[in-house]
Amino acid sequence: MNIAGKPYRTIWAEGTGVCIIDQRALPHAFVIERLTRWEEAATAIRDMRVRGAGLIGATAGWGMALAARQAAASGDPGLLTTAAAGLNATRPTAVNLAWATRRVLAACLELRDPGERAARAEQEARRIADEDADMCRRIGEHGLPLIERIHAANPGRPVRILTHCNAGWLAFVDYGSATAPIYAAHDRGIPLEVWVDETRPRNQGASLTAWELGNHGVPHTVIVDNAGGHLMQNGQVDLVITGADRVTRCGDAANKIGTYLKALAASDNHLPFYVALPSSTFDWNMRDGLREIPIEQRDASEVHSISGWDGSRVTTVRLTPEHSPAANYGFDVTPARLIRGLITERGVCPASEEGVLSLFPEHATTTDRCRPQSP
Ligand code: MRU
Repeated sequence: MNIAGKPYRTIWAEGTGVCIIDQRALPHAFVIERLTRWEEAATAIRDMRVRGAGLIGATAGWGMALAARQAAASGDPGLLTTAAAGLNATRPTAVNLAWATRRVLAACLELRDPGERAARAEQEARRIADEDADMCRRIGEHGLPLIERIHAANPGRPVRILTHCNAGWLAFVDYGSATAPIYAAHDRGIPLEVWVDETRPRNQGASLTAWELGNHGVPHTVIVDNAGGHLMQNGQVDLVITGADRVTRCGDAANKIGTYLKALAASDNHLPFYVALPSSTFDWNMRDGLREIPIEQRDASEVHSISGWDGSRVTTVRLTPEHSPAANYGFDVTPARLIRGLITERGVCPASEEGVLSLFPEHATTTDRCRPQSP
């Protein structure tokens, strides 16, 4: 994606290190940080300098490549498995993280020579990042007809799409998942209006999605998290597209806290609710999202306070009474029954095991099937 006319990805190799955009500074400042050790990659994920399922995976992949280089320099062959465990422990919900560390480990552990291992680890990290960008581009191609159909039925007005949190290019290596069909439609001249949920407590919608869409010239409006239902009831939303951090093989989708409520409101208003994801976000070992997907609980301080630009600097102010406790659940699970379809790099499918396996038959098993879902 372009920033001030210059093309960027969210992570890229530079010399013996890897560069990232520190997302904590956006939209007020564009800060690039260089990582040279796997521990720095782990910190970047833990502190949410980088975030979003795809980018967490790509950063973990590069973290493993940095670890392989550190192992070659120090002669410590155990460093790679230490790094994998350290990276995997940074955040629990996005499955792309462990998927990426596993992939790099599998690619290089069979090699004995530390230099060859390091070269292979770097090659795999590059592949993970390139594939992520390519999968998101194809999600855009497959999601585009959904928007084209709505436009064809309503040619005189913009297609109104609601999205939650940031499943944009900042959450991946490029394009984004939920935003990929939006960018594809905008680039083809389809008029759009995107409702951007602010997404408390970290406000990834207000600060990141709005910034991204604005940079690309996509018309959008930031709304408070509780406004979506009202807009749906009043005919102001045609389509909801969100991303996901982990999707079970039966189609249950974990995404940023509040997504489930949007899916319920969409269902009540007979509106299509789609989840866009690359296949790296499927957890092929899980069936029941509500019971099995680990939900991150973050520090209460994110609920107690809010940060923003006061005209000259970022400042943080307290919202809650001094002695009120706060709980901070990072994600929720939207059951498959509320999801009209999954938009993947191989096409759009129903959110069901049959639907998912129709696109990814290589993951078929002969064991348990998914339980029917009741409201
Ligand atoms: O906590 P974050 O910002 O890493 O959460 C991830 C998200 O941004 C959303 O849940 C997103 O929709 C899925 S990531 C593609």
